[in-house]
Amino acid sequence: MASINYSSDKIPNNVDLANDRTLQRALEHWQPHFLDWWQHLGPSDFQKSDVYLRTATSVDADGWASYGAVKMPEYRWGIFLADPVAERKIGFGDNMGQPAWQQVPGEFRSTLRRLIVTQGDTEPASVEQQRLLGHTCPSLYDLRNLFQVNVEEGRHLWAMVYLLHAYFGRDGREEAEELLARHSGDADKPRILTTFNEPISDWLSFYCFTYFTDRDGKYQLKSLAESAFDPLSRTCRFMLTEEAHHMFVGETGIGRVVKRTLEVMKELGTEDPARLRAAGAVDLPLLQKYLNFWCSSSLDLFGSEVSSNSAANFANGLKGRPDESQYEDHVLRAAQLKLETPRGVEEVPLLNALNEVMRASYLKDCEIGLKRWNRAIERAGHALRLALPSPHFRRTIGAWVNVPVTPEGKIVPREEYEKRLYAWIPSEQDRAFVRSLMQRVVEPGKMAGWVAPPERGINNLPVEYEYVRLS
Ligand SMILES: [Fe+2]
Ligand SMILES: [Fe+2]
Repeated sequence: MASINYSSDKIPNNVDLANDRTLQRALEHWQPHFLDWWQHLGPSDFQKSDVYLRTATSVDADGWASYGAVKMPEYRWGIFLADPVAERKIGFGDNMGQPAWQQVPGEFRSTLRRLIVTQGDTEPASVEQQRLLGHTCPSLYDLRNLFQVNVEEGRHLWAMVYLLHAYFGRDGREEAEELLARHSGDADKPRILTTFNEPISDWLSFYCFTYFTDRDGKYQLKSLAESAFDPLSRTCRFMLTEEAHHMFVGETGIGRVVKRTLEVMKELGTEDPARLRAAGAVDLPLLQKYLNFWCSSSLDLFGSEVSSNSAANFANGLKGRPDESQYEDHVLRAAQLKLETPRGVEEVPLLNALNEVMRASYLKDCEIGLKRWNRAIERAGHALRLALPSPHFRRTIGAWVNVPVTPEGKIVPREEYEKRLYAWIPSEQDRAFVRSLMQRVVEPGKMAGWVAPPERGINNLPVEYEYVRLS
């Protein structure tokens, strides 16, 4: 298995960087720029704290991580690709069955670069969005998880920068610099995708972001892992192993909020949101609003229902469907899809509707946590159920853009929609309340009052472990 050498290399890697001096020099030139970015736009403060982090030591499925106390700026960001699949063939599109590409074909150069840059841009963006969260952490356990997610998003940036440097020459190096020059929420140089310009200033949003937006990341990575461009496929396959923890943080985080709220409901013997808020708990209707907000904004990331770009990317073998092998037809030249539009059901070529196919499989994956949280609510004897909003709710892209649709999927008059919008997504008042809950708790084992402790700690350590040693 490809193990990673941490002792001799300036940049840990399993791509034999030492034998490609030009590439090594180019990346060593980018490295201080990255570290500078981390210092200025990575987590605010805590750079001197010891954080119990996992670091990849090999890329095989078991035992790829080692845990230990690390100061974040000393984290060993590196370049790790999943092991190659011998004689890998293209698994879909018009070139299906031909050997996967080890180099970028000239005709797809700019499209592939764009795909890599768009993915790469989201990684540092999320670190920037989350940079102030440490100040209001609900526990040291959570603080550690935040930083684990942050350093791994930093590594995902490295993964994309490696591809740009190794396969796209001078343009690639310029794009790598630009990835550090755009900033989340910046008026002049914002991040590429809108969702990644929304600041994440409270932990409820952080849990929702890791649940919904990191899951979009999972689906994007899954579709790029199918790519005929083999280095991209191998890079994304390894990124997916890291991504799983990010969604774990989201799913267990929201689950812990539900658990705590149910406890307070029981203590007070009430479902009244006002009384629950007065007791410092997140009432379930408020949680529902956060789910509506983050789910709908993450759904936009899949793009328009009908897209000639995604059709071309599929036909050319650049980007497949997540878990492409589960399907029977991998060419899609004859298949049709019934698409729901505001005008009714329309039949479109499936090849043109792949964003919608991806969105549907993503939504199915999103349901898993909902079922778990709802089971807890049901067991506690309450009738309310959390739900995903309709995929047509609050869309800012595609067939449903600006159509006034309720979270239940009903088209209503615009006036009614506007009047009720803040019954569906957090109002300024709701956000202010959630902000008021965000009090920093840093005593080992202690939790903020709005969230239950996790079932277990990290890497078999107790929940009370001092996961971050503040300096
Ligand atoms: Fe990522
Ligand atoms: Fe992530």
